[in-house]
Amino acid sequence: MTEPTAQWKSLQEELSSCVKCKLAITRNTVVFGEGNPHAKIMFIGEGPGNQEDLEGRPFVGRAGQLLTRIIENGMKIPRSDVFITNIVKCRPSVDMAMKKDRPPDKDEVVACSPYLLRQIEILSPRVIVTLGSPSTKFLLQTNLGITQLRGKWHSFRGIPVMPTYHPSYVLRNGGDSSPLKKDVWHDIKMVLDLLANPAE
Ligand code: URA
Repeated sequence: MTEPTAQWKSLQEELSSCVKCKLAITRNTVVFGEGNPHAKIMFIGEGPGNQEDLEGRPFVGRAGQLLTRIIENGMKIPRSDVFITNIVKCRPSVDMAMKKDRPPDKDEVVACSPYLLRQIEILSPRVIVTLGSPSTKFLLQTNLGITQLRGKWHSFRGIPVMPTYHPSYVLRNGGDSSPLKKDVWHDIKMVLDLLANPAE
């Protein structure tokens, strides 16, 4: 594993004590993200769920296992070679009972997204894959739905962005036998093609 830069470490340090939004009250851990701090591919999800909040690692629950299979079995890349994070770094839950997750709200995205922007700036990935609506809408500054945006190249500050369905959405819509899996694979293949043919 390549060493993170001092800038990366100081961002991580800063985030670990963040109290910029209400999620700081209910979180167990801040989930900075994990993987190669010099990765070519960056995956951006929505926000940590229960398991992620407990472990302090992104995408380790059921959706995370599917994402890991996509990366390791489909793309044939070790998960530790990419960088995986979320648009918000603390777990959004529907109420104080903390039983059910929800997408981040506008205030949470406003408070937390500067961290994501700094991660993108420092990492400077070759390609970004946004998983689901919140991270796609934020990076592309659009209100269009994921179905319209996925499978096509977009750009964020000169970095190619490929939006695709969130693994949780695939799980909710048939899981391993979901027709959406073929769409996700189509999108991921476009990412692999771009990395294999950088001039295109
Ligand atoms: N869903 C997300 O969007 N991110 C995680 O880290 C886990 C589940």
